[in-house]
Order: sequence, then C-alpha cells, then structure tokens
Amino acid sequence: MTTVICVTNQKGGVGKTTTAINVAYYLAKAGKKTLVVDFDPQGNATSGIGLDKEELGPTMTEVIKGEKRLAQVVQSTGHKNLFIAPALPQLANAEVELAQAEHRFSRLKAAIDEIKGYDYIIIDSPPSLSLLTINGLIAARYVLLPVQAEFYALEGLGQLLETMKLVRKRMNPTLDLLGVLPTMVDGRTSLSNQVLAEIAKHFPAKVFKDAIPRNVRLAEAPSHGAPIGAYDRFSRGARAYKAVSKEIIERVGV
Ligand SMILES: Nc1ncnc2c1ncn2[C@@H]1O[C@H](COP(=O)(O)OP(=O)(O)O)[C@@H](O)[C@H]1O
Ligand SMILES: [Mg+2]
Repeated sequence: MTTVICVTNQKGGVGKTTTAINVAYYLAKAGKKTLVVDFDPQGNATSGIGLDKEELGPTMTEVIKGEKRLAQVVQSTGHKNLFIAPALPQLANAEVELAQAEHRFSRLKAAIDEIKGYDYIIIDSPPSLSLLTINGLIAARYVLLPVQAEFYALEGLGQLLETMKLVRKRMNPTLDLLGVLPTMVDGRTSLSNQVLAEIAKHFPAKVFKDAIPRNVRLAEAPSHGAPIGAYDRFSRGARAYKAVSKEIIERVGV
C-alpha cells in the first residue's frame, strides 16, 4: 500500500521543501521506496534533490495536463529507493489552464492512484492555498505541516485547517493531520521556546517529538543538490530529519 503525504503550509520559507526532500531521503534510507512529487512551480525540490532543471524530460506539467502518466515523468535521484517527479515553472501556466478544466481538483489524485510500487509518496506544495495545493490535499492520506518557530508561526494556519475540513467533507474524507513539525528552531532563544509551547498547545498530541533546529548545513545542502543525509549526515539537521522520518513510519504504522 502506498502512503501519500502532502507537505503543506501556505506560507513560503517555512521549510516545506527542505522537509519533503529530507524526510523522503530518510524514508528511502529505511528501505521504503519513496517518490517525491514536486508540485511547486518553483521546482525547488527538483533542484534540491540533485536534478539539473536544464535537462529534464516531461514533468508534472504534462501529468496535470493529462499528456503523460506519473510513471512516465519519474526520475531516479542517484539515491537508493528515492525517486522524483520533477517540476518546472510552466506548472504555474498549467494551473491557470486547469482552472476551467473538468476534474480540476482531482488530477493529481488520479495520477497517483494509477502508479504502483511505492511505499511513500511525498508531495511538496507551493506556498499558497491554490488549486495545486488543493490537488495535493485531495490526493493525500496525510498532511505534514511544517511550522517555522517564529512570532507569526500560527498566523494563517486557521485558514489551512478550514480548507482541510472542507476537503475532508467534500472530496477526501480520510485526510488526516499526520503531524506538526516545528522548523528552524533556535533552542537558545526564549522566543523559539515560547513559539514551541504555543504550537504544542494548539496541536496537542500532533507535534513531532524531534523539532528541526536552525542548521546552516540544511540551508547549504540544496546548492549541492543533495539531501542532508548525503551532504552531512552527522549534522544536527540530518539527525533531526532522521528521527522525524522514524516517527513518521511509526505514526503511519506501515
Ligand atoms: N532548519 C533549517 N535551518 C536553516 N535553514 C533552513 C532550515 N530549513 C530550511 N532552511 C532554509 O530556509 C529557506 C526556506 O526553506 P524551504 O524548505 O525552501 O521552505 P518552503 O519550501 O516552505 O518555501 C531555504 O533557503 C532553506 O534552505
Ligand atoms: Mg518550497
């Protein structure tokens, strides 16, 4: 059985892509065949995992337009068990065209439903509650919500939770919040600790045991086209993402 997880938060720069790449890497490392679906036109997951954007064949744009099947755009990453369906900026145009199209909310679900053989599919979403994000929420069993440990962390999350509720009611009744992952935590500041406490209060029993620290190695890794586990596996960021991936496997129970 394939477990589909949508990494989402409509804010930009909170660690969605970093989380998608590195969680996927450690799931793969744990022996789970894992596919990252880059569903953000910025294509950060595509380049961050090591693909050259100049040398891509068909991408998620063609999948969403119905011109290719998901399996036809999947590329290997050079890491065992880890695959990616890449994205390019044209995905934004495809989204505009999709706005008028039939079955516009369930294009990604249809594409994912017909692909076989993966233990995990991790969807990286754009920083908005757009049609692409809704497609991600409809295709997924779980939402993984990265929250940056900063003052405005919880602002806007109400809207995301409302959207999840609506999606659950109308299209995807089993959609569930897998967990809330505090990111870029600076344990030395009282602000970070205060925000952590606030996140825990808002999402009782949903916060992952290991938060992701602010760690410069995590910020450097994408420019080397490498998940943190391949770039510096002894860094604090690497250890944190490894622990979170382990907890994800426990929570999903597969
Ligand atoms: N834990 C972290 N420590 C330091 N830098 C981080 C961390 N997580 C993400 N970053 C950096 O912060 C920026 C935003 O992260 P990213 O994962 O791209 O966010 P999003 O996908 O939500 O826009 C990137 O430059 C990334 O390398
Ligand atoms: Mg991103």
